[in-house]
Amino acid sequence: MVTDGPLLTVTGVQRSFHVGSQRLDVLKGIEMELLPMQLVMLKGRSGSGKTTLLNLIGGLDQPNEGEIMFQGHPFHRCSDDERTHIRRKEIGFIFQSFALMPLLSAWENVELALRMAGTPRSQWKSRVTHCLELVGLGKRMHHRPFELSGGEQQRVAIAKAIAHRPSLILADEPTAELDSQMGAQIMSVFRDIITSEQVTICMTTHDPTILEVADHVYEMVDGRFVS
Ligand SMILES: Nc1ncnc2c1ncn2[C@@H]1O[C@H](COP(=O)(O)OP(=O)(O)O)[C@@H](O)[C@H]1O
Ligand SMILES: [Mg+2]
Repeated sequence: MVTDGPLLTVTGVQRSFHVGSQRLDVLKGIEMELLPMQLVMLKGRSGSGKTTLLNLIGGLDQPNEGEIMFQGHPFHRCSDDERTHIRRKEIGFIFQSFALMPLLSAWENVELALRMAGTPRSQWKSRVTHCLELVGLGKRMHHRPFELSGGEQQRVAIAKAIAHRPSLILADEPTAELDSQMGAQIMSVFRDIITSEQVTICMTTHDPTILEVADHVYEMVDGRFVS
């Protein structure tokens, strides 16, 4: 769904954790916005709170204070079930370590995502083929993860994340385990899917060359954004 307004708005978000008797303030008032079809990056040193924020944006966790509006849904007020329902339909996740099923082929991995999303079986074949071709794996569809390079495995993970037609893709350090050439290929695939699938992508990275291709970069320092 592409609308004129923001896809997601984060206002005054705070998140703390209790560790023993200590309170750890991780996010201390975050303001951000994701517009449709944007490539937005979060940068910041390890431990600065990037993954904590991605989890909130993805509806996996809730803030202690503040608001997260995703496509008109108040994530900060939704029940766990409501957030799970919206997340399954509208959000795709990509991880640093690919998170593929090792015994399934590329094809079967993507098909599994459609099965879990409740997509009608009659659409699986054409959608799996389309997604794997989109990420440049049309000739590797029946390989299993161990028969693919790291960059190819991450491209299977991208096909898997977009298969159910989400409007938002969240990627936590998706290029951290890849060399710079494979990392650049992943970014080029991200650019392609933003246009062809009309998704918004929000990702974390440390890599300065990768940050260059962002539409917008948010830099996190000590639980806040600096500009
Ligand atoms: N569930 C949790 N319980 C306690 N502390 C946590 C939890 N999740 C994250 N933290 C702490 O929050 C800080 C930020 O973590 P994280 O968001 O993973 O940072 P980043 O992704 O930028 O490396 C770290 O100090 C981490 O230990
Ligand atoms: Mg992290």
